[in-house]
Amino acid sequence: MFVSFDIHSEIKPYQVKIGKNLLETTFKGVDDSIFLCDSFFASRLAPVGRPVIAVDATEYAKSLDRMSEVIIRLRESGATRNTNLVAIGGGVIQDVATFCASIYMRGISWKYLPTTLLGMVDSCIGGKSAVNVGPYKNIVGNFYPPDEILIDPDLCGTLPIEQKVAGLCEAAKICYARGEDAFARYLALHPSADLENIDLSQLIELSLRSKKWFIEVDEFDRNERLLLNFGHTFGHAIEGAAKFAVSHGVAVGVGMLAAMHYARLAGNQAFPQTAITLATHIRGLLAHIDGLGAVLAGTTEQDLFDRFAADKKHTATAYTIVGIDQAGRLQRLALPRSPESENIIKETFRALRHPGFLSVAE
Ligand SMILES: NC(=O)c1ccc[n+]([C@@H]2O[C@H](COP(=O)([O-])OP(=O)(O)OC[C@H]3O[C@@H](n4cnc5c(N)ncnc54)[C@H](O)[C@@H]3O)[C@@H](O)[C@H]2O)c1
Repeated sequence: MFVSFDIHSEIKPYQVKIGKNLLETTFKGVDDSIFLCDSFFASRLAPVGRPVIAVDATEYAKSLDRMSEVIIRLRESGATRNTNLVAIGGGVIQDVATFCASIYMRGISWKYLPTTLLGMVDSCIGGKSAVNVGPYKNIVGNFYPPDEILIDPDLCGTLPIEQKVAGLCEAAKICYARGEDAFARYLALHPSADLENIDLSQLIELSLRSKKWFIEVDEFDRNERLLLNFGHTFGHAIEGAAKFAVSHGVAVGVGMLAAMHYARLAGNQAFPQTAITLATHIRGLLAHIDGLGAVLAGTTEQDLFDRFAADKKHTATAYTIVGIDQAGRLQRLALPRSPESENIIKETFRALRHPGFLSVAE
């Protein structure tokens, strides 16, 4: 085991372990366990000798309609109140597991082994589930952390480049949000899209310890933790308008650039060096994704805006986004639902559909 640390939670404390060969450790002492895994890992779970529910990791798989199928499979697999659910996969599997474990027989214990970089650096802690309903992404959910999180960075070896970039975009965001020191430590690890020559366990630990601060001071998303939504309101609109042809973390990366573009249009003309470094780093990561510019160009401004406007974070009178101020600090903004704000938001979407948006220098 390289590292282990606790997360304090009002629901229940839980533990994170980062180490090697952790997939196999989940196979031991599993008499009362049922496995829920990404189909990608189903063959590796063949020796486990316990029921395995394999799910294709798509946005459709985490829709409310599909939860009943997983609940039925749990029941048919003999799951009782004492069953421990072992979830193995990325953010989609995590969302399904969190939600189903929380409601099955009013709640069963579960442990999580993230298999995407995004899951390892970000979503595995914080306890949230986010489930889609109809066209609305992540519109329902709850808080139900696992008892234990096991992270094996070697599992990133089979990830496609887009997933590596997605994870780094989220890690960069979390470290930037935590402050200059955390962001400087992130950059000092020389994160690159291919994940080569990076000490991944250090990167994961840094990102999770940075996120730990937010979720421990504001577990239920009322104040400080909301800053981690940087890039998300624009990002969710991009993800949906692109019909999920871009993965979540990549959309958040583009969303961070969009939020900075918005800030500039709204009058914040000069960013400090750290914010410029963040934008340059994100652009460098996104450059590894073939066809991203064409996917953005293929969206429509109106669809992007409609999806932005439907985001659950807004209130009846204001669009709420995380912006960036003159000092480069992230800030929660409530933009009145006025033609003026809507024009700037639409102008931002118009800009990001432009072929040069991803390559423009700050
Ligand atoms: N609840 C939360 O706190 C939270 C936070 C962030 C994101 N999310 C959600 O997570 C989802 C995105 O999750 P994600 O980006 O982790 O990926 P994912 O679960 O969508 O998986 C992406 C792809 O990678 C594949 N894959 C997974 N692990 C692999 C591995 N080790 N090697 C090769 N392929 C592998 C999957 O089969 C899938 O094709 C979104 O729906 C997002 O909304 C939830």
